[in-house]
Amino acid sequence: MKILILNGPNLNLLGQREPAWYGTESLQELIAWLQEAFSEHELLHFHSNHEGALIDRLHAARQEGVEGAVLNAGALAHTSYALRDAIAAATFPVIEVHLSNIYAREPFRHRSVLAPVCAGLIAGLGPWSYYLAVLYLTRARS
Ligand code: DQA
Repeated sequence: MKILILNGPNLNLLGQREPAWYGTESLQELIAWLQEAFSEHELLHFHSNHEGALIDRLHAARQEGVEGAVLNAGALAHTSYALRDAIAAATFPVIEVHLSNIYAREPFRHRSVLAPVCAGLIAGLGPWSYYLAVLYLTRARS
């Protein structure tokens, strides 16, 4: 299966940024771990700090035979109706993930505006949030 892993604002700083919430592993290490764990599948990775770039990447995936996406939108999960509309328009399921447990944090993080249009939401399990989302896409949907 071809699966798109999308990471939004500030996730390029993984490993350096607030390690008590996000751990010490870099984004590159996280993606390499996933690619090794799911080596029989094609995992495409895209990171951007820009909302529009994430939306463009989701649109482009429609033409690429992508069968599912895992999205950590960072704080855009709490604010971006434009990203929500792009997910609603996607021709494949999108799973929202968060490294931290957003419900155990500040009130503004308790709401995801993306969740209602995502196939599911996994939060609080660190890198395993991504792993379980890919596992679902590759196993439950194949
Ligand atoms: C995050 C949670 C968001 O609230 C935050 O803005 C992030 C990271 C997570 O993975 O836990 O940037 O998406």
